[in-house]
Amino acid sequence: MNNKKILVTGGCGFIGTNFIRLLMKERDYHVTNLDALTYAGNLENLADLEKNPRYRFVKGRIEDEGLVESLMKEAEAVVNFAAESHVDRSIKSARPFITTNVMGTQVLLDCFRKAGCHGPFVHVSTDEVYGSLQKEDPPFRENNHLRPNSPYSASKASSDLLCRAAWKTFQVPVIITRCSNNYGPYQFPEKLIPLMIINCLQGRKLPVYGDGLNIRDWIFVKDHCKGVLCALEKGRPGAIYNLGGNCELTNLQVVETILRLLGKPKDLIEFVNDRPGHDRRYAMDIRLAQRELDWNPETDFETGMEKTVKWYMDNQSWWENILSGQYRSYYKDHYGRDL
Ligand code: NAD
Ligand code: TYD
Repeated sequence: MNNKKILVTGGCGFIGTNFIRLLMKERDYHVTNLDALTYAGNLENLADLEKNPRYRFVKGRIEDEGLVESLMKEAEAVVNFAAESHVDRSIKSARPFITTNVMGTQVLLDCFRKAGCHGPFVHVSTDEVYGSLQKEDPPFRENNHLRPNSPYSASKASSDLLCRAAWKTFQVPVIITRCSNNYGPYQFPEKLIPLMIINCLQGRKLPVYGDGLNIRDWIFVKDHCKGVLCALEKGRPGAIYNLGGNCELTNLQVVETILRLLGKPKDLIEFVNDRPGHDRRYAMDIRLAQRELDWNPETDFETGMEKTVKWYMDNQSWWENILSGQYRSYYKDHYGRDL
């Protein structure tokens, strides 16, 4: 596996950044990072890797067939993180989610097959494709029906089904990972945990949707990345692996943890209108990944949150550049071209 050539898509986003950092540190792979630098992509996240001969950044879209075709000729394996990923945005406008998550994934699969890549093709997906659980339901299993409830989760479910079809019809060696809610360094401040940390640091209100009792399973991003790496190296083609943190918490419990770690009062919490179609509960049965991939989430929530809060406190200019829009000029400053 040494020196293997991996095409990573969406590597300038939250999880892709953490994954590429893990790969560069723990493996000798050559990594090409294909990223469109949408609002969620931040080239500065990987600035320190720019001169590393094992790393290359290519700006482009996964649905650009000509570009993807040429990159696949040089790739052995693929890890697909590229996506539109925020539920609230998908409620406002679903179209970009269909373009990237659905069309883009199909382009990647077609080009992978035509180039005769050895593989595997790891498709990074989400627990949200399963829909919502009630309090007493058992956690999601890999063979559950898909019942997505938001345009985001519907587009991810569609991409999962296209991956399945590529495996069944053409034996494209696809491995799907479905993970629960991630938190940790480099997460874009539109998502619950970074938004609440930053609002706390700025003394602003913390907007909690509905009654705050929706439950998510939380996993530290580095544990997720290790799971994806295990899937890449040990996964069974055609398999689906649930990844999760075994850590179900209500949104209020999450927000109260942040307030406690930052020593802020609970009256910063502000209950706001609920999200339409808001899934009530997610929970993951991860026994297949534990058994077949010998993988386990290692970071408990308290430790992961201490690290995360510290990261946002130590990297204030990172999120200030995002809030001000300054992060968008990094590409032009370094490549001399507009985004
Ligand atoms: P993100 O929004 O932080 O990053 C997405 C990245 O993809 C950005 O760098 C963006 O520029 C890039 N991108 C978007 N459209 C593109 C296109 N058409 N072509 C090329 N690049 C494009 O997302 P994330 O939170 O890092 O999530 C990564 C993947 O993991 C997604 O597929 C998501 O569905 C999945 N996932 C996320 C979570 C989570 O909690 N964040 C949980 C489970 C699964
Ligand atoms: P989010 O981070 O958007 O992830 P997802 O919707 O993919 O699970 O939201 C996590 C939970 O937090 C979800 O139940 C919605 C809730 N939430 C709030 O209560 N307030 C907020 O401002 C945001 C962004 C999310």
